[in-house]
Amino acid sequence: MLLSVAAVLTLFSCTCAENPAIQVILTNKGLQYGKHAVTDWIQGMLEFITLPDFNGHVGSVVNIHYTLTGTSIKKCDLPEPSTEFYPDSSGFKTSLSGLNVALYGQWRTCLGIFHDKGTFDMAVYGVNVISVVELGKDAGGRLSVTSVSCDAQVGRVDVRLYGGSSWMFRFFQKLFRRQIRREIEIRICPNVEESIVKLERYLQAMNVSFDVGQALTLNLSLTGSPVTNVSSLNLGLKGEFYSIKTHAEPPFEAQPFTVPEQQGYMLSLGLSDFTVNSVLYGYYSARMFQTLINDSNIPPGFPLHLNTSLMGPYIPQLPKMFPGLLMNLQVNATEVPMFSFQPDAVNLHIQGTIEAFAIQPNATETPLFKLSVVSNFSSTVWIADQRIKGSVSMDNFSLTLVGSEIGKFKTDALENVTRKGVDTVLAEVNEELAVGVLIPRLKHAQLVNSGLKVQEGFIDLFSDAEVLTDRGFSLQTNRSV
Ligand SMILES: *[C@@H]1O[C@H](CO)[C@@H](O)[C@H](O)[C@H]1NC(C)=O
Ligand SMILES: *[C@@H]1O[C@H](CO)[C@@H](O)[C@H](O)[C@H]1NC(C)=O
Ligand SMILES: *[C@@H]1O[C@H](CO)[C@@H](O)[C@H](O)[C@H]1NC(C)=O
Ligand SMILES: *[C@@H]1O[C@H](CO)[C@@H](O)[C@H](O)[C@H]1NC(C)=O
Ligand SMILES: *[C@@H]1O[C@H](CO)[C@@H](O)[C@H](O)[C@H]1NC(C)=O
Ligand SMILES: *[C@@H]1O[C@H](CO)[C@@H](O)[C@H](O)[C@H]1NC(C)=O
Ligand SMILES: *[C@@H]1O[C@H](CO)[C@@H](O)[C@H](O)[C@H]1NC(C)=O
Ligand SMILES: *[C@@H]1O[C@H](CO)[C@@H](O)[C@H](O)[C@H]1NC(C)=O
Ligand SMILES: *[C@@H]1O[C@H](CO)[C@@H](O)[C@H](O)[C@H]1NC(C)=O
Ligand SMILES: *[C@@H]1O[C@H](CO)[C@@H](O)[C@H](O)[C@H]1NC(C)=O
Repeated sequence: MLLSVAAVLTLFSCTCAENPAIQVILTNKGLQYGKHAVTDWIQGMLEFITLPDFNGHVGSVVNIHYTLTGTSIKKCDLPEPSTEFYPDSSGFKTSLSGLNVALYGQWRTCLGIFHDKGTFDMAVYGVNVISVVELGKDAGGRLSVTSVSCDAQVGRVDVRLYGGSSWMFRFFQKLFRRQIRREIEIRICPNVEESIVKLERYLQAMNVSFDVGQALTLNLSLTGSPVTNVSSLNLGLKGEFYSIKTHAEPPFEAQPFTVPEQQGYMLSLGLSDFTVNSVLYGYYSARMFQTLINDSNIPPGFPLHLNTSLMGPYIPQLPKMFPGLLMNLQVNATEVPMFSFQPDAVNLHIQGTIEAFAIQPNATETPLFKLSVVSNFSSTVWIADQRIKGSVSMDNFSLTLVGSEIGKFKTDALENVTRKGVDTVLAEVNEELAVGVLIPRLKHAQLVNSGLKVQEGFIDLFSDAEVLTDRGFSLQTNRSV
């Protein structure tokens, strides 16, 4: 019985699982590019690295204590490692093989009261490292990275000592080499693991929620662990905007969608209509889709003015009932405006009310009538010259009288003139959309060769990326790699 309840509960909690509203997909092309950039970066950093000291003893009869200090890299041609998606651990496997390094530094020995010192050259041949990391999601919805396994081998080490009475040392050379080789070998994986821990700490410090402008905050926490197969990595993000003021949850949910894999591009981003609609809901819940229009908001040349004496062509009885008064229009959205993404089209549905008032000389507002507005817009979006561009047109616009203090009147003349007003606004909007907005640049990278396709329920943005080396991506001196 208990078991079946548990089974039902599990089933229930499965159906409740949050769908990601934004999906980010890294393809193998992206992985290879990222690896190449990181390899270049490490190569650039190598010359700044000073390795930690080596300490040890050689000899069994006479015990010489030695220290290698100030060990720096003279030459290291980092062979390009191979990196692949590793579905077994939902992460990556990286193999580095045949790395050779030339090092130099100072040595010191100590045998009882005898101290000696000099310099050395060291060559390390045939370093192989295989590291597997696992990606996951922590309790706070952040990406986490952990080392699953690491294996390191060093082929051979050659050491040449200069200065001091290094003849004594040469005596122990073979033993010493073997010890150094083993010492280097056992230090590699802890260092690799430490770098992964550092990366993990960096990820832990990242915010998953960001304020966007004054009114909204965006939650980008992971909805589940990253999913990898041999050809891609998929991150599902919550992708929901909230009003900072109300933090209200919208009455609709993110629907599942599948972003097609595009191996020709490094990245794909699936942006669902849920994300865009959560923006509209955020504004709606904060009552930001309510506005008061007065006559000074109407452009002077426009054929309609908010003066009762001039409303005759639209509402014949109004100038007679209330002559010479200015009017206010209270325009409210009565439902959340909603976008719906259809193949190659973005539709917007708006529904609201317009309440008209006459302003009496003593400033009292006398209600006149109330209209219901229903309008549908459709638009296309595309990317050209690294700019997101678009165009909008009005598909449908209707005004209906839903209440009146001044008797019935036909709304088609009013509808015609309002439609004309909306068309004027759309013409301006389309001018701006034709210019478009630049695809945002990230701090360390930039999207290039980008494309966009509107699909059922989501927008698919696919792109290559370029690491910016001029600014930001500076080579930092890091002494503990
Ligand atoms: C995270 O957010 C807090 C508060 O909004 C801010 O002070 C902090 O700098 C942010 N951290 C990062 C890494 O952006
Ligand atoms: C973001 O969403 C996640 C999952 O719904 C939630 O656990 C987390 O508290 C949210 N973060 C913020 C800052 O609202
Ligand atoms: C990997 O997963 C993606 C979905 O994220 C899918 O489109 C693709 O076909 C999968 N590839 C393989 C080789 O299974
Ligand atoms: C008309 O509305 C604007 C804001 O949209 C406001 O600045 C102005 O004072 C209003 N005019 C009158 C006469 O109420
Ligand atoms: C309204 O229009 C009439 C007719 O043009 C004009 O005489 C009157 O001054 C206007 N009222 C206001 C307040 O502008
Ligand atoms: C429209 O919004 C105003 C201001 O918030 C409010 O007073 C009015 O009741 C609303 N009207 C409708 C029909 O929702
Ligand atoms: C307007 O859009 C809504 C939602 O997209 C749709 O249900 C409705 O049929 C559309 N109406 C017209 C007249 O196009
Ligand atoms: C304002 O004027 C109107 C019309 O003249 C009148 O009905 C109303 O009672 C007046 N209101 C006040 C507060 O004086
Ligand atoms: C708007 O929709 C109505 C039906 O809801 C239809 O009769 C009318 O032709 C449409 N108008 C336009 C301009 O598409
Ligand atoms: C409204 O516009 C339509 C076409 O645009 C026209 O046929 C009709 O006569 C107009 N109605 C009025 C009352 O102006």
